[in-house]
Amino acid sequence: MSQGIITPEFDPPLTCARAEIENGVGWAILNRPDKRNAMSPALNDDMLAILEAFEIDERVKVVVITGAGDTFSAGMDLKEFFRDLDHLPYNQKMRVKRSAWQWQWKTLLYYQKPTIAMVNGWCFGGAFTPLVACDLAIAADDAQFGLSEINWGIIPGGQVTKAITATMAHRDAMFYAITGETFDGKKASEMRLVNESVPAERLRERTYELAQQLAGKNPTVMRGTKMAVRMVQEMSWDVSDDYLMAKSSEALFLDPERGRQQGLKQFLDDKSYKPGLSGYARESGE
Ligand code: COA
Repeated sequence: MSQGIITPEFDPPLTCARAEIENGVGWAILNRPDKRNAMSPALNDDMLAILEAFEIDERVKVVVITGAGDTFSAGMDLKEFFRDLDHLPYNQKMRVKRSAWQWQWKTLLYYQKPTIAMVNGWCFGGAFTPLVACDLAIAADDAQFGLSEINWGIIPGGQVTKAITATMAHRDAMFYAITGETFDGKKASEMRLVNESVPAERLRERTYELAQQLAGKNPTVMRGTKMAVRMVQEMSWDVSDDYLMAKSSEALFLDPERGRQQGLKQFLDDKSYKPGLSGYARESGE
């Protein structure tokens, strides 16, 4: 049943981002549309605050990151994140910049709840970092992506190069990084930078539908599964085998709703569902 949209309070109040909770979906919205949601230090602080709050908010099951207006994000703020900080001593500069690395990469990478990037328009440079750090991504067909760093004289840092080589094929990553050419949402989907692209008018609806699908899953198993998919990539087969065994035991031990038992009982004894086709009926509803 719809609970409508809840706007949680923040202290200090958010100035460059917006947080909304809608039926288990936490919308974390970059909110500087007049600056094409360029990521300034204040915006980075706000996004970190939202993600940290959503992670422990029981009302939030899935987080969607998107941008206000017609833009996902024009990347790092060239004025407030670069030029205005250039004069600061190195340590002070790093202190100001820390929230960017934190929310755009580390927090998202190890996030306890599933995350979706919803790319609704321009997506440049530094915006590729949170885009790739999210578990899934959906773009509007006509969204415009660009690794524009080469166009204004820097190497794609802030994990952007690492992020594109983790998702795109070598030729594609290299082509777009060294030409700075833009590509649209359809092309991003074809290159597997995003999971899918849809017509702009369907973007929110499709993202919400996917978020609800994820919200219906067992959260303990969801957390273990998404972490395992990330972690095993760097492991040998033997280490992965042992890690997955340990993670499976951890999920069994930690799962308050005892999902495995419910799943087996409902299929084998009650014959009330088919695990190949849908999830078990979650008694806790949590
Ligand atoms: N950093 C700082 N300010 C930015 C910005 C950025 N990354 N992207 C946009 N803005 C600001 C513009 O300076 C402008 O500010 P103003 O109104 O005070 O002059 C405002 O946002 C609107 O931008 P504008 O360029 O007029 O919008 P547009 O719709 O015509 O073009 C873009 C949109 C995204 C194509 C264009 O703004 C752009 O190329 N931005 C830079 C993208 C980029 O290279 N990012 C990489 C960062 S790593």
